[in-house]
Amino acid sequence: MRKKFVIIIFGGLGDLAKSKLYPVLFNLYRKSQLVNCSRIISTGRRPNVGREEFIQILKDSVGNDDRDFLSLFEFVKIDLDKTEEYRFLKESLARFKEEEFIFYLATPPFTFESIITNLGHFLKDFSNEKKVVIEKPFGYDLESAKRLNRIIKGLFREEEIYRIDHFLGKETVQNIFGLRFSNIIFEGIWNRNFIDHIQISALEEAGVEGRLGYYDRIGALRDMVQNHLMQILTLIAMEPPCCISEGAIRGEKVKVLKSIRDIKYEDVPLNTVRGQYEGYLKDERISLSHTETYAAVKLYIDNLRWDGVPFYLRTGKKLRKKETSAIIVFKKIPGLFSKLLDCTPQEDIIGFKITPENKIILSFQLRPLGGSILSCPIPTSMEWTGPNIEAYETLFVDIIEGDRTLFIREDEIERSWEIVQPIIDFWRDDPRIPIYPPGSLGPREAEEFIRRDGRVWRYL
Ligand code: BG6
Repeated sequence: MRKKFVIIIFGGLGDLAKSKLYPVLFNLYRKSQLVNCSRIISTGRRPNVGREEFIQILKDSVGNDDRDFLSLFEFVKIDLDKTEEYRFLKESLARFKEEEFIFYLATPPFTFESIITNLGHFLKDFSNEKKVVIEKPFGYDLESAKRLNRIIKGLFREEEIYRIDHFLGKETVQNIFGLRFSNIIFEGIWNRNFIDHIQISALEEAGVEGRLGYYDRIGALRDMVQNHLMQILTLIAMEPPCCISEGAIRGEKVKVLKSIRDIKYEDVPLNTVRGQYEGYLKDERISLSHTETYAAVKLYIDNLRWDGVPFYLRTGKKLRKKETSAIIVFKKIPGLFSKLLDCTPQEDIIGFKITPENKIILSFQLRPLGGSILSCPIPTSMEWTGPNIEAYETLFVDIIEGDRTLFIREDEIERSWEIVQPIIDFWRDDPRIPIYPPGSLGPREAEEFIRRDGRVWRYL
């Protein structure tokens, strides 16, 4: 018999709760995965929200008015900065004697320290088991991430901490691990001898829109590179774990991060590009901002498998189209066909399309149909497409079941901040930021950045 639990959502009126968490909880409820859930307590600070208004928000969010589901919920108004208001939550939780508490911090990162500190004040009066789920970015830089880790660990044991990165819940991202370690055909070529370089991209059509308050303090590097893109990198680059255990898998990911070559402060311009989309500053809430809405970073992993293979990570808002992908670009085939006039065979590619579809594409060269045996080969592809399952749903089940494989460990988070820290520092000190037109491929400087290496950005 599984233990009973209560979910407590901080940021219960926020975008994340409304767009992801409530719909996911509704799905889990329909799949009978919330049978042991005694209550879901949502907290929010808006003063004019009572039970009725909250239920309406819930109904709008899940597009359903299932009474049993709705009756699982309770809304508690708390201004997160006011310590005295946490007593409302304490009172609400007091009647649950046996349940495990799952605290979900779906709030902006600047609130994490204060929520944890305030929880600390009243949780000492409870002996319930507990877990805490923390959204990204975990910290604001290396120092604040370390401080946050210290504060959280004063209250929770590492086994109770779920640092979430929703990209790890995405089907295709997990397929990187699956494909690599369950097929012998890729193993022999997954290294510097065959791979020219790797591109990991999260390109978005949408701009910052309603999230300016959060985004302007964070920027693309902290919002996407330090976490989502770096996580994809670890799955592509890791060694096979000794066994299927969360410790072994997370351990191998950390080894990759530790092998990433540090970028020196003075080398930041050589290894990165940033940009801001035109119109970002038109928002009346900001007059001057150097926050990047586009970031590209080149990293090297100094180990036997990856020596000399660049990993290009890039992300941007207000670009031509939404595409999140990881593309393995193999070396060009030497000899033979390149001796033909006008023939430069393309590179073979394995592409993982993460968003909008869940797809794996193998692009290779084949002689054109009906051509002579010596015709110049042309790119051809084989594709596999699967359904996409909401990443948060996968991760929520793991949280309930206590499986932390797809969550980020303390040393992992700190090392990933260490890697981006010189970039944060350099960009802070040098406010010159290229501007790019909305709907474009990003700043011109980003094209030059990769062209300098004799390569181009790839799309799937
Ligand atoms: C979030 C970022 O973590 O990921 C957003 O904060 C970004 O800025 C989003 O838009 C992208 O995620 P997805 O799942 O929509 O590709």
